[in-house]
Amino acid sequence: MIALSCSACGAESPDRDLLACAGCGDLMTFTLDTAAVDAHVIEEKARMRRSLTNALDRSGVWRYRELLPPIADDAITTLREGDVPLYDGPRGAAFAGVDRLAYLHQGMNPTASFKDAGMTVAISRARENGARVAVCASTGNTAASMAAYAARAGMTAVVIVPVDGISPAKVAQTLDYGAHVVAVEGDFDDALRAVRALDPKTVAVVNSVNPYRIEGQKTAAFVLLEQRGWKAPDWVVLPGGNLGNASALGKGFREARAIGLTTHAPRLAVVQARGAAPFALAWRDNRDLRPVRAQTDASAIRIGAPASWKKARAEVRASGGTALAVSDAEIADARAVIGRDGVGCEPASAASLAGLRALVANGTVARDADVVCVLTGHVLKDTAYAAAYHASAAANANAVVRDVEIGDYLNLVLLSRA
Ligand code: F0G
Repeated sequence: MIALSCSACGAESPDRDLLACAGCGDLMTFTLDTAAVDAHVIEEKARMRRSLTNALDRSGVWRYRELLPPIADDAITTLREGDVPLYDGPRGAAFAGVDRLAYLHQGMNPTASFKDAGMTVAISRARENGARVAVCASTGNTAASMAAYAARAGMTAVVIVPVDGISPAKVAQTLDYGAHVVAVEGDFDDALRAVRALDPKTVAVVNSVNPYRIEGQKTAAFVLLEQRGWKAPDWVVLPGGNLGNASALGKGFREARAIGLTTHAPRLAVVQARGAAPFALAWRDNRDLRPVRAQTDASAIRIGAPASWKKARAEVRASGGTALAVSDAEIADARAVIGRDGVGCEPASAASLAGLRALVANGTVARDADVVCVLTGHVLKDTAYAAAYHASAAANANAVVRDVEIGDYLNLVLLSRA
């Protein structure tokens, strides 16, 4: 029903927990026998489960469990993740230059990022295997997610983070869930290299090199489609760092179409920050990826050697999509606009809207296109960034007023809206 094989050479693996192909060293991937799945059964089960009360059925991941690698029910560790909303974004649409726009807000997950949809599957599998320790490298969100699910599963969590430049809010969250936090001299790429050198037989490695993570994250495609009556948008625009999410969403949409849940799959646009854009550069020049030393204020995507670039390239190609880079200033402005839609997100997430704006300006995306921007993390994930943004904008925007002046200030605000 669902087999594990190498994403590059196709070699099948009887070992269901292999991370890298024994032959060529590339990443492993699950392949679903889509011909054996009945779309109506999946749709009906999803509808029915949404109305039930147990956590497994209410999870946006596990209500699609027939499309996931099988895991024993008593090993499943869920926080009712994955059931994230689509919001309309009129100000974002105007900013990008499209008639209408929706945000898929993956920041509305239990630990406030998209990682939870993959983590519930990876940790459940680790638990089924009897693992006692879970490890990941992270720019902060994988760390927080793994820490939470490991805590629920009764496992010890060890996260490896770059010593500088990750959001303090994410570190605090990770510590709250009881994880050990180890800072490495170096960046995310150094941390991931160290983690990939570990023996996955002794510890559970739950970065997105773990194919169970990708399987969980692919369900975001189903959750998106389900909320649109199974009609796919023309474009899905999302930020790219290590490129697990682009791989996962591409796989989800591709499977949804193959099964017959939807008639077409959206085109994927992967947006990177200009200082951390090895994938966008490789795409532009139509060549293989060359790692870079990454630098961007969007710390979640400060990644120079993305592990899943081949998988992501295959998905973007198959979807008829594209990849591009935007500046940190463009990301900052886009993030503020998403806030004004009453939604909000962390900086990396806003790369999606900044990227959409660039794609409309250069004619790749039509003004009347039906577009969904994926917001990967919650606004409270990086409060320091938001505070700094508003501090620099404070001079002209929000006056500091004393009590006696509040009435005058409100009058001014009302006048300025008139
Ligand atoms: N957006 C946010 C908020 C992220 O945290 C990440 C990655 C991405 C986008 C990029 O997703 O790696 O699948 O391409 N964060 C990882 C972490 C690396 O450690 O939390 P990707």
